[in-house]
Amino acid sequence: MKAEFVKSAVYPVDYPDEGLPEIAFVGRSNVGKSSMMNKLINRKGLVKVSATPGKTKTINFFRIDDHIMLVDLPGYGYARVSKKDRAMWNKAIGAYLEKRGILKACVLILDMRRKPSEEDLDMLQMLADFGISTLIAVTKSDKLSGNQRKKQMAIIAEELELEVEDLFEFSAETGKGKDALWQTLEEIALS
Ligand code: GTP
Ligand code: MG
Repeated sequence: MKAEFVKSAVYPVDYPDEGLPEIAFVGRSNVGKSSMMNKLINRKGLVKVSATPGKTKTINFFRIDDHIMLVDLPGYGYARVSKKDRAMWNKAIGAYLEKRGILKACVLILDMRRKPSEEDLDMLQMLADFGISTLIAVTKSDKLSGNQRKKQMAIIAEELELEVEDLFEFSAETGKGKDALWQTLEEIALS
């Protein structure tokens, strides 16, 4: 698989104009968006993984095999950012989701150890309002034991009014769920 960083953008005028179908990754800051993308494309350091949360501040585009664009969106919900920064990020994400016609689907990422937050639910609502197909990936599965995993998956599904089968279990550490998620994303992008 060929994977290349294309560019960073904040405003729509700066988005790439190659017209490739896009899949975007959204979720709270530090949830593991960048790690998931790296794992999916088998490139350890292509997407920057943060030691401190809130690191991804721009919309970052990665071209995969010349036929799909993966898009890393800035994380939400990090408390220690200024109001001004937060407003800018919200605007940037909102503009992208609302206007990007070639966006085929979003992957909303949740941490398996936590209940979905208000902001996660708001984001899901925004995606639904914009009519964007959304996959839910529950990551950091390696951090829990088998029993805890089952329990947490059930809690998360219930909070979202979904079935456990609707959720993609994932671990960037072990690669669990990687093939299932990637296959689904490719199908959606190329459909
Ligand atoms: P921002 O760009 O700041 O919004 O963060 P992000 O959502 O891109 O998260 P990132 O991928 O940078 O990961 C945040 C931290 O979680 C890093 O320390 C990762 O190593 C860790 N992490 C991410 N995914 C996993 C996982 O599946 N398992 C484990 N054990 N750690 C993970
Ligand atoms: Mg990131």
